[in-house]
Amino acid sequence: MELYEAIKTRRSIRKFKPDPVPREVITKILEMATWAPSGLNWQQWHFLVVTGPKKDEVARSYGRIVEFGMPPAGQRSPQQEGFLQWAKTLGGAPVVIVALSPAHGHPALRKMNLESVAASFSHLLLAATSEGLGTCWMTGPLNNEAELRKVLAVPDDKEIVAITPLGYPAESPVAAPRKKLDEVVTWIGF
Ligand SMILES: Cc1cc2nc3c(=O)[nH]c(=O)nc-3n(C[C@H](O)[C@H](O)[C@H](O)COP(=O)(O)O)c2cc1C
Repeated sequence: MELYEAIKTRRSIRKFKPDPVPREVITKILEMATWAPSGLNWQQWHFLVVTGPKKDEVARSYGRIVEFGMPPAGQRSPQQEGFLQWAKTLGGAPVVIVALSPAHGHPALRKMNLESVAASFSHLLLAATSEGLGTCWMTGPLNNEAELRKVLAVPDDKEIVAITPLGYPAESPVAAPRKKLDEVVTWIGF
């Protein structure tokens, strides 16, 4: 798939087919992620590729976070129920990828590390699109980062940057409208 097409057709997918993703395909998109630029060329990224019961635990943790902010069962709108269902199961995705960054006490270096990992995560999402896979960049699960760290045995010298489910999409959401360029760009010296 051509790059601009991947950029424009990537959507946040919240419903997946149960079909497994071949390990070679996962490996390929991870390799694409490692071609991202990185501060000081430290290549700060580390990825956890999770399936099975640990993946289900990640989903349940996010489900609890989402449920906490909602009205009790019976008083929820269909949209709220739908979102909760997505959260509890991560849309039935067979795999979850978690991006980690080295923890750094110095604010500027921490920022540099986070930006490097975010760049690689963006590459990963686009490569996944190119392979016909769905993803959803997520930071909501970090609202209970302590639990997530425990479930995934994340060492103290790493911080979790983002999470994505990975699998073959079972929905084709319409694109969220984008702000006009005029609203987000200031041309200087032109
Ligand atoms: C930093 C970041 C955090 C996000 N966290 C979540 C999340 O926790 N749960 C979720 O369902 N979507 C999450 N999203 C997905 C956004 O809702 C989505 O990107 C946005 O609505 C635009 O839709 P699109 O990705 O289909 O273009 C996140 C996206 C980003 C970039």
